Amino acid sequence: MDPIESLRTSALAATAAAEDNAALEEVRVLYLGKKGKITDLLKELGTLSAEERPAAGQKINALKDEVSSALAQKKDSLSEAAYASSLEKERIDITLPGRTPATGNLHIITKMQAEIVSVLEGMGFSPVEGMELEDEYHNFEALNIPSYHPSRDSHDSIYVSKDRLLRTHTSPMQIRVMEKIKPPLAIVSPGKTARRDAVDAKHSPVFHQVEGFFVDEGVTFGHLKGCLETFFQRLFGEKTKIRLRPDYFPFVEPGAEISATCVVCKGKGCRTCGNTGWIELLGAGMIHPAVFEHVGYDPKKYTGFAFGMGVERVAMIKYGITDIRMFYENDVEFLAQF
Ligand code: DAH
Repeated sequence: MDPIESLRTSALAATAAAEDNAALEEVRVLYLGKKGKITDLLKELGTLSAEERPAAGQKINALKDEVSSALAQKKDSLSEAAYASSLEKERIDITLPGRTPATGNLHIITKMQAEIVSVLEGMGFSPVEGMELEDEYHNFEALNIPSYHPSRDSHDSIYVSKDRLLRTHTSPMQIRVMEKIKPPLAIVSPGKTARRDAVDAKHSPVFHQVEGFFVDEGVTFGHLKGCLETFFQRLFGEKTKIRLRPDYFPFVEPGAEISATCVVCKGKGCRTCGNTGWIELLGAGMIHPAVFEHVGYDPKKYTGFAFGMGVERVAMIKYGITDIRMFYENDVEFLAQF
């Protein structure tokens, strides 16, 4: 067989068989490299006679071109195959639903507090924020709770110095506001409070309150009742009724405990309301003349009412939450519901 023809057959077969670029390079070196088989043939041209040389040269060069272009083609098809297989490997399913980024939301207590404040703002009360650290004068004395008063025991929160303590209620804001401005005034003041309470399903040593108060000439207990009835109807629904019963708080006279129709059973009686149909929600009353004297208001000229409620308690009633600890445990599944 013609040696050129047999080289051609084997070179093209080796090219076709190469499975990757490295194998292909080996084939190139074997045939077209410096010491390759086709290169060797070209070198041998010199040994041929002058008549034979041109025809043989043409043939070998044609072979060289053919093998080169076969190698180039194979190289192209190898890289196409590699591209196709990488596409296959890196394939993404664009029909899969995306992952929604987890966004946060305001804490239920923050929202409940904002809702209470906003209902009262809608009724004409102006929001004022207080401080979490109070002095004994504003937390107790000026609110008619002298140092010997028994209620001081349950209000004995953390003292940071002899005179300063974590406020035990938001009522001191009554004093702080009335010290600064003259009636008429209608203020709502929300915030964090602390008590000497052991943690259980209903108690937490840190909790939140909203205080409201209104002072002017001629304010009556009737105004207090109408105001709180409207407030609870806006918060819990139009059909809500309120009930007032006498209660004692040193800074009001008379004082009342206010209940609203149970939001769960609508007044029929259930477990949440202990079968009474009523839920106790806040303390209220007519501001005590002694309090007015502490802030320099004339109790003969001015009267006013005040009320205070626990934000956690309102939220528990509104949403049927049975354990106050759930608010503080950072259980995202619980918190994400609100
Ligand atoms: N400060 C009281 C408490 O923490 C709640 C309260 C009762 C506030 C009667 C008032 C009020 O303004 O008139 O228990």
